[in-house]
Amino acid sequence: MYSSHAFLWTLALLFGQQIVLLEAGYGLGVPLCQGCRVRYVKYPLAGAIPIINMERYKKPVPKSITIERVINHYKKIDENQIKRRTTTVRSRISSDYSFIVKIQFGSVSQCSGALLSLKLVLSSSSCFRSFSASKLDKLHVLISHGQRLAVASVQQPASYDEITLLILKSSPINVKPVTICNTPLQPSMIAIMLMASDDLSFYGRRSTQLISNRSCKTSYVEDEQAFITSNMQCLRNSLNPDHCGTIKGDALLQGGKLCGLSAYGSRCRARTTNADLYVNLYKMKQFLTDAIQKAQN
Ligand SMILES: *[C@@H]1O[C@H](CO)[C@@H](O)[C@H](O)[C@H]1NC(C)=O
Repeated sequence: MYSSHAFLWTLALLFGQQIVLLEAGYGLGVPLCQGCRVRYVKYPLAGAIPIINMERYKKPVPKSITIERVINHYKKIDENQIKRRTTTVRSRISSDYSFIVKIQFGSVSQCSGALLSLKLVLSSSSCFRSFSASKLDKLHVLISHGQRLAVASVQQPASYDEITLLILKSSPINVKPVTICNTPLQPSMIAIMLMASDDLSFYGRRSTQLISNRSCKTSYVEDEQAFITSNMQCLRNSLNPDHCGTIKGDALLQGGKLCGLSAYGSRCRARTTNADLYVNLYKMKQFLTDAIQKAQN
């Protein structure tokens, strides 16, 4: 599957272990945005050789590095800035996104989800609109390190319409479930929208902040299935629709904790303030804590 991928990379900067790339291609399933900044860290799958392409410089990326995609506007930075950035980038390398999962119907990844425990996956209920219990055997959860687990049950909480819980049949290994926010997100706080490619080989991040509901009303105006509930929050996305890559169930982090889950994915358009609706998980913290307990038994 990986050999088919046709990434074309334009090398923008090469600095020690860190390579900042201008991305000009498309990823597996999820279109990669134009002009994204990309960071290679350690490559997970043998045999995959993306091409770095700079006018006179063409060479395959070593197999020993993975890629973390940072969705951002590309801008030129000088060497001092790179040095400063490298420090912040180093601290990012330690971030563990193994809680991010993909929900697959058949072999197709449809949405993201988050591991709240080794048995419990949380996702957006909008991902399950056409799901029925008779299709349970077609449902799988793709987890990092190529793990693909069957689902024992799908639960739609009566009290929280916005979310769906999946109980896994078995527990994944080498993953670190995420904890729910201890404090509500405040307008002054910077949060991170996380995105991941369908096969979990790329992660994308975007800094974001709360924004008024009005922007979400505009963004989702053409989606008759999207509603703003009192359990949702509106988060700013990119002005450039090519840079919006969030899908249903994508995580919103603040201080390393899970504060939200993308309710419907992004609906970005050109020349407008784009915003995404996220389920406010802080509001559901008690419910989710209980659900984690129950899933263990
Ligand atoms: C956004 O809309 C929801 C649902 O109507 C409401 O509960 C919430 O308070 C609104 N948020 C803001 C910041 O006005």
